[in-house]
Amino acid sequence: MTKQYSIAVIAGDGIGQETIPVGCDVLLAAQEVAGGFELKFDEFPWGTEYYLDHGRMMPAEALDILAGYDAIYLGAIGFPSLLADHITLWGLLLHIRKQFRQYINLRPCRLLPGVRSPLRDKTPDDIDFVCVRENSEGEYAGIGGRTHVGTPHEVAVQTSVFTRVAVERVIRYSFELALKRDKKRKVTNVTKSNACQYSMVLWDEIFDEVAADYPDVAHEKWHVDAMAARFVTHPETLDVVVASNLFADILSDLGGAIQGSLGLPPSANINVDGRFPSMFESVHGSAPDIFGQGIANPIATTWSGAMMLDFLGQEKAAALIEEAIIQTTKSGQILTPDLGGKASTRAVGEEIRRRVEAAAV
Ligand code: NAD
Ligand code: IPM
Ligand code: MN
Repeated sequence: MTKQYSIAVIAGDGIGQETIPVGCDVLLAAQEVAGGFELKFDEFPWGTEYYLDHGRMMPAEALDILAGYDAIYLGAIGFPSLLADHITLWGLLLHIRKQFRQYINLRPCRLLPGVRSPLRDKTPDDIDFVCVRENSEGEYAGIGGRTHVGTPHEVAVQTSVFTRVAVERVIRYSFELALKRDKKRKVTNVTKSNACQYSMVLWDEIFDEVAADYPDVAHEKWHVDAMAARFVTHPETLDVVVASNLFADILSDLGGAIQGSLGLPPSANINVDGRFPSMFESVHGSAPDIFGQGIANPIATTWSGAMMLDFLGQEKAAALIEEAIIQTTKSGQILTPDLGGKASTRAVGEEIRRRVEAAAV
């Protein structure tokens, strides 16, 4: 029997408009080749333009609408020359992550064959780990305020919130993931408990408690500043890296850089219990500096589509897309300028699609 999945597609802003059509094309090709399931895309024109017309990033009933879908496929949100980032992001992306309890954000970091890392001598065997980002609270709790605005005594407060429930579930997820990956079987705890004597000390205590439940998984603790350096000096020592919302946000862009381009890393915002749809998007943003030129790398968005298929239980179709991406970078002939090529977003998309289709014969 053919399984049906309804996917809410939000291309959003900037290069999201250019990469999402490519991602959808590749997903449909994988559906054709793998068979046994059918994707139904519904596109929603929400984002900054929508705000300029309607005074909000998405309609008041948007979450009720999205709740009926199996997954959300998102391009990027934000266009700071048109509207302040905190309005656009809290009006859509962060709102969905929080309200749909997508409390795990998976951000794989893999050097693809054929791509030159800025790290001299590193190969695909050296860079293959996953950041597990706490995605519901921490520095992104959204609690605070400003007072005495515009005066010399102006004050802004932005409060971090760390709860036992949220910290424990993301750390436990990381240990389970280390077992599932079955590579180095190691979880690295990213902390800053030397300076943050309340939140990060709680985080570390919970890490140690959870680690005790997994005697077969190695574990270690690193401060985030040292970890930033270690991403560059010894990425081959990493397997699963668990960090708070802001720490993992920053580290995952560094992860993109060591992979060779921010145009590569994908991500999955997961609602683990399945009560709400999960959301799949690139790690990168709307890249206003290159928007409109048709040169954005579509791989991050396309790879995020593969993560979506994997999450939906269509592992074979997901693997087809991953393999097509790998073969595309490996051959190195059709790449966007961020990877040293001359090809357009569309051309790279067509190359990936062609390789997915070729897997059928
Ligand atoms: P960015 O990730 O959009 O861009 C950073 C740099 O990486 C730019 O030079 C850009 O050209 C390059 N880049 C990014 N994606 C690329 C791709 N696919 N191909 C080639 N080059 C690529 O980060 P930014 O400039 O800080 O943010 C721009 C906007 O996007 C802001 O509004 C920001 O808030 C928002 N943003 C949104 C998301 C999201 O929706 N998930 C993520 C990050 C930033
Ligand atoms: C990301 C982005 C977002 C984040 C921004 C746009 C709010 O940088 O998905 O990494 O910080 O989570
Ligand atoms: Mn980010």
